[in-house]
Amino acid sequence: MTTPAPSSRPPRAELHLHIEGTLEPDLAFELAARNGVGLPYPDPASLRAAYEFEDLQSFLDLYSANMAVLRTEADFADLTRAYLTRAARAGVRHAEISFDPQAHLVRGVPLEAVVGGIAGVLERSEADHGISTLLIAAFHRDRDPADALDVLERLLAMRAPIAGVGLDNAEVGNPAAPFADVYARAEAAGLRRTAHAGEEGPAANIRDALDLLHAERIDHGIAVVQDPDLVARVVAQQIPFTLCPVSNVRLRAVPALAEHPLPAMIEAGMLVSINSDDPPYFGAYVDDVDDAVTAALGLTRDQRAALAAASFRGSFLPPERVAGYLADVEAWRAAGA
Ligand code: ADE
Ligand code: ZN
Repeated sequence: MTTPAPSSRPPRAELHLHIEGTLEPDLAFELAARNGVGLPYPDPASLRAAYEFEDLQSFLDLYSANMAVLRTEADFADLTRAYLTRAARAGVRHAEISFDPQAHLVRGVPLEAVVGGIAGVLERSEADHGISTLLIAAFHRDRDPADALDVLERLLAMRAPIAGVGLDNAEVGNPAAPFADVYARAEAAGLRRTAHAGEEGPAANIRDALDLLHAERIDHGIAVVQDPDLVARVVAQQIPFTLCPVSNVRLRAVPALAEHPLPAMIEAGMLVSINSDDPPYFGAYVDDVDDAVTAALGLTRDQRAALAAASFRGSFLPPERVAGYLADVEAWRAAGA
């Protein structure tokens, strides 16, 4: 009898993942044909070649344009299934998946099709893919907060199986403060709270997310290192930060992986995980992110295990589920020792 070789990558949770950002060019063309929607590229390779970005907005423009192919419940189900299939290969054991309801409502796609398509696949994800999941409804910070509140009320009224809310899209020039009522409503409804902050914007945006939105988790948050007092606070409170180092480089928030603040954040004692954000757009699923970060920053197996453990600790799972996953991470760490 032979012992199976230890996996080269740890089991992990992916906490920062936009389901719309998992649209692969091949699937985009398949859905475009199915729905009779035109794409301004002759083929998937030409679309992929357009995945070169100058900043967050240049990415958001293409990301939003590509959503035109997502029209039916089956489209959202196919998208979700494709992500889970690939994520399982990456060693993802738990995923907290964001979706952007407003991006679809403005195109006339019913909320029921979006939620039904995604949630129907997530319901079977543990059985079909070995991945437990939670769903997060993310609101656009560059839209009217009253619209976000209206969409939240609709999600609650239809009993959408969401575990939490998030805030995404263009950060600069779009403060968190006007979304305080939306987050207060989410909190009152028992929903968990995360928010993008400090991706392109300053550390003050992270403070606002914590103080004004009562965010329990910060997405990106790389600007925190500009504010030592804030670093001390998030260390003391062990606020999870869901980092996306490859995304930061591809959107030019950071010049190169070797210059990413991840090591400084680990050194400070922050609870940080690594995630993919929008994998095909940035050419990296979370296993590729792990490989790239490990190579660029020279991470040890123990440091990679610590990042994977932080991904589960920073999740919205109950403590007993977290404990089970942490034991798996420890087994992975020990297998390579
Ligand atoms: N939506 C999808 N990816 C995003 C990112 N990196 N920042 C803000 N909004 C997003
Ligand atoms: Zn994001």
